[in-house]
Amino acid sequence: MRVGILGSGLMGGKLGTLFARAGHEVVFSYARSEEKLRTLARKAGGSARAGTPHDAARDADAVLFAVHWSRSDDVLSQAGDLKGKVIVTCSLPMNDGDTGLVVGLTSSGAEELAKKARGAQVVCAFNTVPSEVLFGVYEAREKAPRPSLVYCGDDARGKKVAASLIRDVGFEPVDAGPLRIARYTEPFALLMAELAYGGRGGPELAYRFERFR
Ligand SMILES: NC(=O)c1ccc[n+]([C@@H]2O[C@H](COP(=O)([O-])OP(=O)(O)OC[C@H]3O[C@@H](n4cnc5c(N)ncnc54)[C@H](OP(=O)(O)O)[C@@H]3O)[C@@H](O)[C@H]2O)c1
Repeated sequence: MRVGILGSGLMGGKLGTLFARAGHEVVFSYARSEEKLRTLARKAGGSARAGTPHDAARDADAVLFAVHWSRSDDVLSQAGDLKGKVIVTCSLPMNDGDTGLVVGLTSSGAEELAKKARGAQVVCAFNTVPSEVLFGVYEAREKAPRPSLVYCGDDARGKKVAASLIRDVGFEPVDAGPLRIARYTEPFALLMAELAYGGRGGPELAYRFERFR
């Protein structure tokens, strides 16, 4: 798949690197330095390259949306028309100080993004784990059982694409239903952040759901 990365920071940089290692054609975009994007692409290997948000979105089978909430409009305007594209968003609708959600209860960041990027297939995924755990999950991908990763969206094709990327990183995708379920997964992501950064065990934290029948 060709995967465009919009926002090549902690999440976009790491997920893009892992997508490239899994064999995808990755374009890193939207960092404050082009040199950073080139270094990320070089280290990711394969056919990864640096580009503009427009390059990253053009011809992409999936676009990873990984910017701070406050940068959403800017990156969308630079990406151009995303109609028909699958957008996998890990962005949380945080306030400028990153102390709380600015959207919730009656909507979610993912739903608001879907309104901004009309015609795109938005899937909410990867937002419930800290970036620090991603490489560890990838390294352990051959071991069972895998950690879970919830995702949600309204479009079957988008969800299929997202589930396959989730598997490529080493998680077991858990389909949580339609996009409005992001109203629950986004606050859950803050619980994960609290445990990862506020607890004693360190931020390399993932989760696994188990059913007891
Ligand atoms: N970090 C996590 O563990 C985590 C977990 C779950 C969800 N999330 C969510 O995922 C999204 C991305 O988080 P992140 O931690 O990857 O953020 P980040 O490290 O700050 O990355 C954001 C990217 O946007 C770029 N950017 C370009 N222009 C910018 C500008 N003018 N001001 C600020 N940034 C600009 C940054 O550039 P530079 O590279 O030059 O800084 C960076 O590449 C956020 O919505 C966050 O809430 C994060």
